[in-house]
Amino acid sequence: MGHMETIIKKVKKGQLDRESMEMAGAILKRGGLVAFPTETVYGLGADALNEKAAEKIYAAKGRPSDNPLIVHITNLDALEKIAINIPKETKAIADAFWPGPLTMIFEKSDVVPLGTTGGLNTVAVRMPSDEVAAALIDAGGGYIAAPSANTSGRPSPTMAEHVEEDLAGRIDMILDGGPVSIGLESTILDMTVTPPMILRPGAITKEMLEECVGEVTVDKAVIQPGQRPKAPGMKYRHYAPQAKLSIVEGDMENVIAKINALAEEKVKEGCKVGIIGTEESVHNYRCGDIKSIGTREDESTIAVHLFAILREFDADEVDYIYSESFDSEGIGSAIMNRLLKAAGHHVITV
Ligand code: TXA
Ligand code: MG
Repeated sequence: MGHMETIIKKVKKGQLDRESMEMAGAILKRGGLVAFPTETVYGLGADALNEKAAEKIYAAKGRPSDNPLIVHITNLDALEKIAINIPKETKAIADAFWPGPLTMIFEKSDVVPLGTTGGLNTVAVRMPSDEVAAALIDAGGGYIAAPSANTSGRPSPTMAEHVEEDLAGRIDMILDGGPVSIGLESTILDMTVTPPMILRPGAITKEMLEECVGEVTVDKAVIQPGQRPKAPGMKYRHYAPQAKLSIVEGDMENVIAKINALAEEKVKEGCKVGIIGTEESVHNYRCGDIKSIGTREDESTIAVHLFAILREFDADEVDYIYSESFDSEGIGSAIMNRLLKAAGHHVITV
């Protein structure tokens, strides 16, 4: 792929710069690529109904072409244009969680090219709540395909600087709307099966969905290693830091002692070590590059820092990372899903 100049524009919520938004919309309409903030992670946008444009996304990210893209919309009329046989439960779910961090999968209509859906006859659809995202989708024609705006295999970007690191010179434009608010990708819910099935956990939890429509199941591959996931993208070794990451789980006192012992051993061998602790525990660690990921009193603070911390350890060329384990209630199930993947499911129980 040729080297191109990437335009970077800062955009402020509440006072979007019209000129930048029009420029970004025009780039999308002529088949170009624009990275933009959403409430979950930054996305790499292209016109979802233009097969050539959607295909450029795969080249820029180095993404396998069988991994389908999510189509981003801003209204329910748009959903009816790209999806067919929409089940009746959809309305209640959309009323409760759209716009927001939820993606739903439906049978696709003929207007959606197979280049966007990775050859599948289903389409993933999301209506993001971020103001910059919504304005860009409208400016770009209403149907924007967007995976996370990282190089395939790297942690998803939670600020514009991460996008620049991975994709500068490979895409037309980056809209910099500052750090995202959630930090983990949207919940994916497959609406083509009964009951609906969660293929990827996110900020909209199983409990929240069940309160709305009754029973919801979870793809086995979300929790168990070695199962073949139903979302094609979930099978790749995602969120992989360059270091070897281990999760240490058990009573806090034992976890701290074990992480200290492991870190001291590796430092003695001359290795660089990173530690992921929390506000409650960091003062107990003795050596290595010690980072607080957030507070256990509010796990959303942990979610929002996870990918940035993995990137910082990559930049510091750390050899080993030891992380505490987190509760898997609420957003915790999404945190542990991403952390376990980053660790290749390497867990030490003490
Ligand atoms: O929060 C998010 O969802 C972000 C922001 C930018 O919206 N996007 C995102 O896209 O995470 P991506 O491409 O990184 O992840 C999309 C996931 C992949 O695992 C893909 O395989 C799955 O959704 N997916 C997309 N379409 C699908 C379909 N028709 N059937 C099953 N899985 C699908
Ligand atoms: Mg991704």
